[in-house]
Amino acid sequence: MKPAGARFNLPNLHITIDMTVPTVSNESLMEEIVGLCKRRGFIFPSSEIYGGYNGFYDYGPLGVELRNNIKQAWWRDFVQRRDDIVGLDSSIIMHPKIWQASGHVDGFSDPLVDCKESRKRYRADQLFCAPVVLDAEPCGYVAYVEGADEASIIKQAKKLRDSLDKKQSKLDEGQLFGSAADFTEVSDAVREQTLGPDASKAGTLTAPRAFKLMFETKVGPLADESAIAYLRPETAQGIFANYKNVVDTGRVKIPFGIAQIGKAFRNEITPRNFIFRSREFEQMEIEYFIAPDADWPSLHREWLDQCIDWLVSIGLPRESITEDVHPQEKLAFYSQATTDLMFHFPHGEQELWGIACRSDYDLKQHQQHSGKSMEFFDEASKSKYVPHVIEPSLGVDRTLLAVLTAAYCEDEVPNDKGQAEQRTLLKFSPRIAPYKAAVFPLLKNKPELVERADALYRKLQKRWSVFYDASGAIGRRYRRQDEIGTPFGITIDFDTIEKDGTVTLRDRDTCAQRRVSEAELIDFLEEQIEG
Ligand code: GAP
Repeated sequence: MKPAGARFNLPNLHITIDMTVPTVSNESLMEEIVGLCKRRGFIFPSSEIYGGYNGFYDYGPLGVELRNNIKQAWWRDFVQRRDDIVGLDSSIIMHPKIWQASGHVDGFSDPLVDCKESRKRYRADQLFCAPVVLDAEPCGYVAYVEGADEASIIKQAKKLRDSLDKKQSKLDEGQLFGSAADFTEVSDAVREQTLGPDASKAGTLTAPRAFKLMFETKVGPLADESAIAYLRPETAQGIFANYKNVVDTGRVKIPFGIAQIGKAFRNEITPRNFIFRSREFEQMEIEYFIAPDADWPSLHREWLDQCIDWLVSIGLPRESITEDVHPQEKLAFYSQATTDLMFHFPHGEQELWGIACRSDYDLKQHQQHSGKSMEFFDEASKSKYVPHVIEPSLGVDRTLLAVLTAAYCEDEVPNDKGQAEQRTLLKFSPRIAPYKAAVFPLLKNKPELVERADALYRKLQKRWSVFYDASGAIGRRYRRQDEIGTPFGITIDFDTIEKDGTVTLRDRDTCAQRRVSEAELIDFLEEQIEG
């Protein structure tokens, strides 16, 4: 979702465009996160030994733990801990008629802009166009991709200036950054005067054209049109297609929800910003069915608050989450309201979680196309109706990137010799951290310490994902765990064996240490991890 804009008038060109100011990126933070993910086994580029495959990623040993913990936390909080939501796991490939009924076959596309010179493709809603004013006179526009840094936009504006043979003219940088319009909204006149991000002269960008986002495949032995099927581009339609099954078998009462976690596939034109926008990703979606006369604005607000609370519960700072209310005139005809929860990612403030009121559109479409009634008999009101729906839809991978962004941190702590040393740490919430704790014998050549540490490790491992490390100086071992976000370090030393059996419990973020008994340790970990 692009940031909210304001109307802006360019007097000399007599063109009015919808101006928006895209947020400035923090490229180095993204680079640090990508580097750490690769170095420590969170996320790898897919098919890396063959040079990678754009828009696809693989999750390594730590990444898969983090990812599973996020999904489990979501499932526990939105399904298992609620009385009004049940789960579902539908197939990825479904009858192609589902995608005709939902409108995806005809309409699921992105507006695409081609550059005739560089042959590159851009998504029109991610391409911004800024006015270039030279010696106080509007002289054209430069296009840049969302998240581009200021220096590269200025460089591009100067390139346009040079191509116009106006090398000596003064560029008004204020105009360049004070306003920008996204490419879905610029007129042909503006487009023809625009220098593309990878072009050397203005006027090489085409008008936006629809690009189909669904991946096609063939099912069965026939190779003709009748065999065409689709990899699902969202999990939601699997829920609508099974709505009747759940109602008929599940004893659900309105309002109720059906939740699903699963893979979705979109042939994104411009997969970018690491796992933020990829071609294969995972969604956590709920369709929450309500009566047609329910107070949907209040329910929508309740859902927004619950979703914000959940994001905070997995470690995102409340102040990093904002709301983007879609303007009425931009909503699909069937949609009553949509608000996106936005997060401040390294490449700017972007959509994390979409919460939409979708009316009875999807169920009615399936009712019409399948010929099966989607009516619900409401015992309470003794009436029959097709329910309306509120849809909170969240990406697992995008949540993981948000969690990494919020957790990434660098500080200075004293090393084993008492000297200040820089450390990198991931401040994951214990709920979702890949390892909940690491167990260390103080010295690896003292069998009594090793034995005791190993026994505690085996005990904790029965309940949680924990790590054992005996090698290297203890400070180094702490640092290795800090970098992968292990919240607690537990050290077995001579006091443990010779005195009272207590262990040292170290906090990752403050480095504070205290001695606790084994019983206290278990209670503490239980409370921190399970909440
Ligand atoms: N059923 C509604 C739906 O799919 P959406 O806004 O297209 O709505 C919902 O997607 C969420 O899925 C987004 O808010 C985002 O978190 C995630 N998502 C969508 N496209 C994605 C992509 N290409 N890569 C990663 N996550 C994506």
